[in-house]
Amino acid sequence: MKGISILGSTGSIGVNTLNVIRLHPDRFRVVSLAAGSNLSLLTEQVEEFKPEYVSLTSVDDVSKLKGLLPTGVGHGVEGASIAASMDGVDLTVSAISGAAGLMPTLAAVKAGKEIALANKETLVMAGEVVMAEAARQGVRILPVDSEHSAVFQSITGHRPEDIKRIILTASGGPFRERPVEEFDTITPSEALNHPNWDMGKKITIDSATLLNKGLEVIEARWLFGLTPEKISVSVHPQSIVHSMVEYIDGSMMAQMGSPDMRGPIAYALAYPERVESGAPTLDLTRASLEFFEPDTVKFPCLALSYDALKEGGTMPAVLNAADEVAVDAFLGGRIPFTGIPALIEGVMDAHDNHRQPSLEDVLAADAWARRAASEAVGG
Ligand SMILES: NC(=O)c1ccc[n+]([C@@H]2O[C@H](COP(=O)([O-])OP(=O)(O)OC[C@H]3O[C@@H](n4cnc5c(N)ncnc54)[C@H](OP(=O)(O)O)[C@@H]3O)[C@@H](O)[C@H]2O)c1
Repeated sequence: MKGISILGSTGSIGVNTLNVIRLHPDRFRVVSLAAGSNLSLLTEQVEEFKPEYVSLTSVDDVSKLKGLLPTGVGHGVEGASIAASMDGVDLTVSAISGAAGLMPTLAAVKAGKEIALANKETLVMAGEVVMAEAARQGVRILPVDSEHSAVFQSITGHRPEDIKRIILTASGGPFRERPVEEFDTITPSEALNHPNWDMGKKITIDSATLLNKGLEVIEARWLFGLTPEKISVSVHPQSIVHSMVEYIDGSMMAQMGSPDMRGPIAYALAYPERVESGAPTLDLTRASLEFFEPDTVKFPCLALSYDALKEGGTMPAVLNAADEVAVDAFLGGRIPFTGIPALIEGVMDAHDNHRQPSLEDVLAADAWARRAASEAVGG
């Protein structure tokens, strides 16, 4: 039995992880869950999966639950970190959204737990620090992001020096064909309507701006140890090819599947074996495969992400923090859709980059960028 901790159990990835685990009661045991503030769903999950420990964001919620749940209960970063690293956990699924995922994931790495990584922000913000700690602890980081899972599946059995480049596919989001002159009028509900994937709000908006693909480029740099020149992006509206690896002999390995996160989640949970995921089988007779160059003029967030990656240091953490504030402001109606890249670029321009940062430098840059971005949108 593999003991599983799920950070972000009430979110889209967390719920899908439990959907896969439900299919394999003989293989996986839920040891701990960490959530934000969705008490009712967390309570249902506790009743069904009977973890030993749960954590929530706020201390007030803990007092509501204590005595009601037959588990240990904690809160905040400390509670999520305990859930991530406690005895009995073999693998921690990192699926909190945003920068809040970093510290609990790092706690799991430090405790030597295998990681199934959905929270890309962990590597975007602190790739150098986290990968060095993983190497020290001999911890394997298994990708859950469908693109990185596809690359991982396509490089297994090949020599790193034979890779020419990897190609991360992007659906292009809901505005691929909308004229750029109309981007100022895009509403939050339009941006939340992703054509292929059903995901949390933050990543859905990031998919519409292509910032999500930019974060994935940075994540790939750390997961696969590649230089930015060896990481390309191709727009593939059908989301059937989840990513590809091109080799020096001209061969390309691609991984395909239905756009359903249960596939990559099951692969990470059971690695190196494969288990049933519940994802529907792909019907290739109904599939068409198109690929386009991304338009970085229309979607400047992708270019900004490559800039942050090439700059290195604390710049990717600043990109990420400014984006979190920008997405929040867009969803709250305080800035237009086009204000998202403008805000990120302004904060990046004002940042005094810190190269080879420690964890403290990363956290300080994150806090600075949030303040700068919040001031720019008026609080
Ligand atoms: N969804 C996808 O298909 C997908 C694909 C690839 C990668 N990812 C990545 O996976 C991560 C999660 O994405 P998602 O779509 O599942 O997000 P989501 O649906 O918004 O869920 C986020 C989860 O994190 C919890 N949470 C938020 N802040 C927290 C905090 N401070 N402490 C503890 N828990 C907190 C939420 O709890 P409450 O709901 O209880 O407040 C929820 O369980 C993101 O990094 C995303 O980029 C997602």
